Amino acid sequence: MFGYATLFSALASAVSAGTILWDGRFNEMKSSADLNNWSWANQVGNYQYYIHGSGAVTKYVNLDAKFKNPADTGSKQGAKITIDSTAKWNSDMWRTELIPQTKAAINSGKVYYHFSIKRSTTNVPSATNEHQICFFESHFTELKYGWVNGESGTSNTNLQWMVGGQSKWKVELLADVWHNVAYEINFSSNSVTFWHSTGSDPLTKTAGPFSGSTSSNGADWHLGVLRLPRAGNDGTGAEDWYFSGVYIESGDLTTAIASPGGAGASTGTTDPGAGSPATTAVSSSIPSSVVVSQSTTLVTSAKPEPSSPTVGTVKQYGQCGGSGYTGDTNVSVSLGSSVITYLTTI
Ligand SMILES: *[C@@H]1O[C@H](CO)[C@@H](O)[C@H](O)[C@H]1NC(C)=O
Ligand SMILES: *[C@@H]1O[C@H](CO)[C@@H](O)[C@H](O)[C@H]1NC(C)=O
Ligand SMILES: *[C@@H]1O[C@H](CO)[C@@H](O)[C@H](O)[C@H]1NC(C)=O
Repeated sequence: MFGYATLFSALASAVSAGTILWDGRFNEMKSSADLNNWSWANQVGNYQYYIHGSGAVTKYVNLDAKFKNPADTGSKQGAKITIDSTAKWNSDMWRTELIPQTKAAINSGKVYYHFSIKRSTTNVPSATNEHQICFFESHFTELKYGWVNGESGTSNTNLQWMVGGQSKWKVELLADVWHNVAYEINFSSNSVTFWHSTGSDPLTKTAGPFSGSTSSNGADWHLGVLRLPRAGNDGTGAEDWYFSGVYIESGDLTTAIASPGGAGASTGTTDPGAGSPATTAVSSSIPSSVVVSQSTTLVTSAKPEPSSPTVGTVKQYGQCGGSGYTGDTNVSVSLGSSVITYLTTI
């Protein structure tokens, strides 16, 4: 028995070639209530949890084995991230986002940001609202869904990959199809590349490399969804988004969807979600990818990054500028005993 187990783990680890710099796979968490352990004063756990509405954490984030891509045996569970009319944070945008809590060098050299994403048939995301998904604050690599500012028409059911507001790839976001993504980022050469697959298929290089304004303070990648308001075309219902297999890797890219470590299978019990047909990967039904070009940018957060609460008019990480933005541009941040106030010019 021991011999088999050893052989199995040796084979499992041979599949993963990279080094995990930060692990956001929810494997250590019992429930989303663990996110409440984190605060600015007590920065524990794998995620910073502060971008959310006023309700309880279970209104916005829930964890379950059935919320993960079943092909990812390295994850015990996935996250269902919900936005609704209560999920407002410092603005009229609907937002539920998790930020990596780490001092690891996730913002330098060449790194891969891994995650899988899907929607289901319930609480379907609004196709008339722009959604910014898994984005950095300078928007050099991100997904978008729904009608995007600048597009013609009123709705768009595509998931798009964007570099600095330029769409580089898109595919229709069908229900219960897992989209596996790795953002390849070389912070030294300022380039980004998009790796993608569906279901259990290994990642393939899908678009890029492209030049981008790769900059990050190591605490500004937003796992989750920000939805922009759109007067007259706002979806009214709650939206559920599913994420799993979240980790940041350096070295060689792991293209297998079974993420490193096999945590999902290491509990010694049957994973109730893994064999369930709740999600169906139908890669053959995916429309072929289309490369499009579209320009739109929106700055959604204030910089520089402080580590203490805002005392000015625009709240910390609140919107202070961007295309079409007409709100307050007076940003004040407190840094220790001094307060810096500036007007954004974007
Ligand atoms: C969060 O805090 C609770 C109570 O102290 C603890 O039982 C739990 O293990 C913590 N969660 C994590 C992921 O550390
Ligand atoms: C990242 O870019 C730098 C600068 O161009 C280059 O020297 C380095 O080899 C790249 N890293 C990898 C792992 O490709
Ligand atoms: C910005 O807000 C701060 C804090 O309320 C205030 O002291 C300052 O005068 C404001 N600056 C401008 C230019 O409005």
